[in-house]
Amino acid sequence: MKLAHISDIHLDTAHRPSCIAEIDDLIRRIFDKGFDHLVMTGDIVDVANFDDLYRLRDVLAKNNVLSWEKITIIPGNHDIFGKYEFSGDGLRETLVRAVQATGMSYLKKLHNFCDIFRETITSDAQILTYFPFIKILDGATSGVAIVSFNSVLEWSARRNPAGSRGYIHATERYAVEQPEILAALHDKFVVALCHHAFRIYEPSNALDQAFLWSMELMEREAYLKTLKKIGAKIALHGHYHKAEDYRIDGVHFINSGSVRHAGIKFNAVTIHADGSYDNDFVKV
Ligand SMILES: [Fe+2]
Repeated sequence: MKLAHISDIHLDTAHRPSCIAEIDDLIRRIFDKGFDHLVMTGDIVDVANFDDLYRLRDVLAKNNVLSWEKITIIPGNHDIFGKYEFSGDGLRETLVRAVQATGMSYLKKLHNFCDIFRETITSDAQILTYFPFIKILDGATSGVAIVSFNSVLEWSARRNPAGSRGYIHATERYAVEQPEILAALHDKFVVALCHHAFRIYEPSNALDQAFLWSMELMEREAYLKTLKKIGAKIALHGHYHKAEDYRIDGVHFINSGSVRHAGIKFNAVTIHADGSYDNDFVKV
């Protein structure tokens, strides 16, 4: 089973009108090359512009891949909050987006994001909450389980002032640790997804320290515990725009880096019939 993993596309038609044609080209090439499934680990759009999400939906539909079997998409902080802009109008828009990324508005926005790609998540039209969601695809010895978490933390002046810190809510972790879920996953090749990076770097000065704090995944040790419980072999993410992989406590984390153009490398994982796998950063 061949899995393509891209991340941090940051679609922004207002500033880069060619971005939709570029992602269209990349998606077509990925499936032409024989990949079975494409995972996108968040920051699909740059400034929480849902019109661009609908444009991506159209691209997926046009390429006949807007389906549960072919695509898995989760949000990143830019999809829900956007980004800080300090110039005149930008700052006003930033404040509006900050308010929209709190409480019920945050939940509504998260829900609306998932609704746009509903066919790739569930056939249940009445669903109240999307995360965590699990899909079992053909592959490995008895199936490949894609376990998707939402790591976008709602905006808050104290805990998340830049909107880019992450947290995997305890309810999501407990949900996948239920005995019936663990039983369903135990013979599967488990791939976990969230947007935020697990690894943090040693800051060299106070400014770096502040930057890393504003970007970090909170309570990541709890996430690691959950990954080990569900037997995750690989954990895919984005957020830092740096393609890299690293192992922590037996879990192989892979960041695909930021894919904005068809010519950029992305993470390709091949899962073999005997349950082994290999990964590489490739161009198509
Ligand atoms: Fe991000």
